[in-house]
Amino acid sequence: MAIQRPKISILGAGATGATTAHWCAAKELGDIVLFDIVEGMPQGKALDLLEAGPVEGFDVEVRGTNDLADTRGSDLVIITAGQPRKPGMSRADLLSANYRIIRDLVERCLPLSPEAYFLVLTNPVDVLTYVVKKVTGLPRNRVLGQAGVLDSTRYRTFLARALGVSVRDVHALVLGGHGDQMVPLVSYANVNGIPVSALLSREEIERIVERTRKGGGEIVELLKTGSAFYAPGAALAEMADAILKDRKRVLAATTYLEGEYGFSDLCLGVPVVLGGGGIERVIELSLDEADRDALRVSADEVRAQIAELPERL
Ligand code: 2OP
Repeated sequence: MAIQRPKISILGAGATGATTAHWCAAKELGDIVLFDIVEGMPQGKALDLLEAGPVEGFDVEVRGTNDLADTRGSDLVIITAGQPRKPGMSRADLLSANYRIIRDLVERCLPLSPEAYFLVLTNPVDVLTYVVKKVTGLPRNRVLGQAGVLDSTRYRTFLARALGVSVRDVHALVLGGHGDQMVPLVSYANVNGIPVSALLSREEIERIVERTRKGGGEIVELLKTGSAFYAPGAALAEMADAILKDRKRVLAATTYLEGEYGFSDLCLGVPVVLGGGGIERVIELSLDEADRDALRVSADEVRAQIAELPERL
């Protein structure tokens, strides 16, 4: 039998879905199916992206569709469908609108791709990752959410700019839910091993932590008609790359917790080993009291949103 490229289906061909397809194609992660309910739109974007192949030199199939059956046999299903935030909205405000959309899509997708990994971006991402986990009944290694890679890349950007150093040398993690209570860790943030606390003042670090927490909102306020898509798409592609190339990357991912960090039966961003087995391992860091408390506040925020779901799962 001929060797096949991995198949990646992206549900939702809006700005984030299309940008994710772009990053995935540029990295030649696999053949891409871009699905949306709007007629012609995913087909048009997919064809446009496919036609960039000869210039960029990527040899992958990119196909747009309005028929979910075309996602059959996917290795990875990336969920970006649903409504984005508008100015003045919190991510939690999207809950009821996006719950139905995601539940329906996943229930129809799973029988078509029973072996797939499901990677959720749609907000509120912590709750919707929980919904996908519960609705599919899949083991937790196969259902994950993207938030921590995005929040961490924002944190790393702000640190690198404040320090005037390459982004490549700045390593930092953001844990917790993808809301304004997220937890950018300061004690583990470093520049090639040098703690940032040795290089920046406390006030400066505090300003960067605050800007990271509000990073999504900063872009919503500027764009006015939607939310960020370049960095979210890049973050999704990095997670896809970790899974499809079995890289065993250590990344923050929204994960269904089974006692780790003292939490069960909710999804929260924690560091994991991401590879060919999906979430292969959760890494439990020891946290100081302030970070532990902050994580608890963030977890409470996610739990409150789970309690608002229109159905008990
Ligand atoms: C963000 O920009 C999309 O929630 C996402 O933070």
